[in-house]
Amino acid sequence: MRLGIDFGTTHTVVALVDRGNYPIVSFEHGDQAIPSLIATRGNEMRFGLAAQAVAHDPDWRLLRSFKRLLNEAHPGAQVSDLLARFLAHVREQIVHHSNAGLRPKDRIEAAVSVPANASTGQRLITIDAYRRAGFDLKAVLNEPSAAGFEYAHRFRETVTAKREYVLVYDLGGGTFDASLIRMEGKSNEVITSSGVSRLGGDDFDDAIAWLVAVRGKAEVSPALLEEVRLQKESISPNTRKFVVDSVVLPIDDVYAACAGLVEQTLTAMDPAMRDPRRGDDPVPWSELAGIYVVGGASAFPPVYRRLRERFGAHRVRRSPHPFGSCAIGLAIHLDEGAGYKLTERLTRNFGVFREAEAGERISFDILVPKDTELPTQVSRRYRAAHNVGHFRFVECGRIDQGRPEGNLAAWDEVLFPFDPTLRERGDLAGVTVQRLAREGPEVEEIYRCAPDGTVEASLRVLDDGFERTVRLARR
Ligand SMILES: Nc1ncnc2c1ncn2[C@@H]1O[C@H](COP(=O)(O)OP(=O)(O)OP(=O)(O)O)[C@@H](O)[C@H]1O
Ligand SMILES: [Mg+2]
Repeated sequence: MRLGIDFGTTHTVVALVDRGNYPIVSFEHGDQAIPSLIATRGNEMRFGLAAQAVAHDPDWRLLRSFKRLLNEAHPGAQVSDLLARFLAHVREQIVHHSNAGLRPKDRIEAAVSVPANASTGQRLITIDAYRRAGFDLKAVLNEPSAAGFEYAHRFRETVTAKREYVLVYDLGGGTFDASLIRMEGKSNEVITSSGVSRLGGDDFDDAIAWLVAVRGKAEVSPALLEEVRLQKESISPNTRKFVVDSVVLPIDDVYAACAGLVEQTLTAMDPAMRDPRRGDDPVPWSELAGIYVVGGASAFPPVYRRLRERFGAHRVRRSPHPFGSCAIGLAIHLDEGAGYKLTERLTRNFGVFREAEAGERISFDILVPKDTELPTQVSRRYRAAHNVGHFRFVECGRIDQGRPEGNLAAWDEVLFPFDPTLRERGDLAGVTVQRLAREGPEVEEIYRCAPDGTVEASLRVLDDGFERTVRLARR
């Protein structure tokens, strides 16, 4: 059985490959999603709906939005175990408590997604956790790329030779991503992505809860946030008043409290309107077949309204399944019969800090720039000048005046012995970095970027083949 699984900040959604159709899987009570929740009490753990059921029980501790923790986590971190256990719960629900029609022994081939600007760390944790949970992992896509397939499947006729770009606007519970995709025949090529890793419906809840607390002279509490979220989700374009407990707010005040967040998403879209093959000029909006609005938080009326105001009503399309379009797109991707092809790109810059001017200054070199087509391999050779190479690899969303910025993630520091007499030493950190007296050995660095967006670095002395390959080191 083949499935697309979208582990989201607030919901996890699953879609099936079923003879050219991609239905969303229903669980108990007909729910089309599993809440991404974990509850703990001592050593006990509950997941999904069972965790939601004890949300108000003071004996239980509820962990919400734990996907947000992955962004900065290391593969060895505790949150990777939590994710693996949560995904094992998802698997169990699919097998025993859903309408997917699986038998317990059936293999589950899965395509899964990560936020476009996820770091190598987040990607590795995610891959690892799905495998540990018993899924046969076939593909890892960026969330907006997956939504792009759903667009291609549903609105193919809007894409023409003169309008071949689609901009996916994905506002979920915890992340905002925008990706520009070029569609030609059945091939989808991701051109560039940009986004904000901590911006989503959760932040609307925070902003509204603050407003309610100030007006009602109360405190922001988990219970208030929950109430605000429920009320927010029941707003329709005709709603005039927002009522929580005894506090009544004009709806425009609620929208005003969130206006800054909505504007942030518009600002973050601009960098995505670029196709490097056309030079520095932005892609003209007239060449856009559509802006595809997906993600649950895009149902918040000011979001859609603001997008239509800015880009024109005819071009802004909402997915009929805003919360499920990513899972559906993943299922389409897995369906060989559908015949779609995808070209992904590296969504972040990968680079290294190094000492320059004999240790006087630290400079940053980009090794693999953002938007490089995947998979790719980059290498460089030089003669070592020092006894020990000190590499501090960094990933980031953008470069500002030579400095890495934007959702920066650092790998563990890597020390490499250029001086052969140091190879047996375990504690290179204790060695003083010195210039070599004679010309050092010739060294080659190779950086491999896999189709799933992870990066691996190999350092090798060419004279005798001594080599070390590093992924994110495990702590
Ligand atoms: N009708 C609605 N009106 C406003 N907001 C809504 C509505 N329905 C859902 N939301 C909000 O959408 C968010 C969840 O969206 P979605 O399910 O797409 O996110 P996710 O996939 O879990 O998160 P992410 O993709 O960021 O990891 C929540 O903040 C929720 O409150
Ligand atoms: Mg999502």
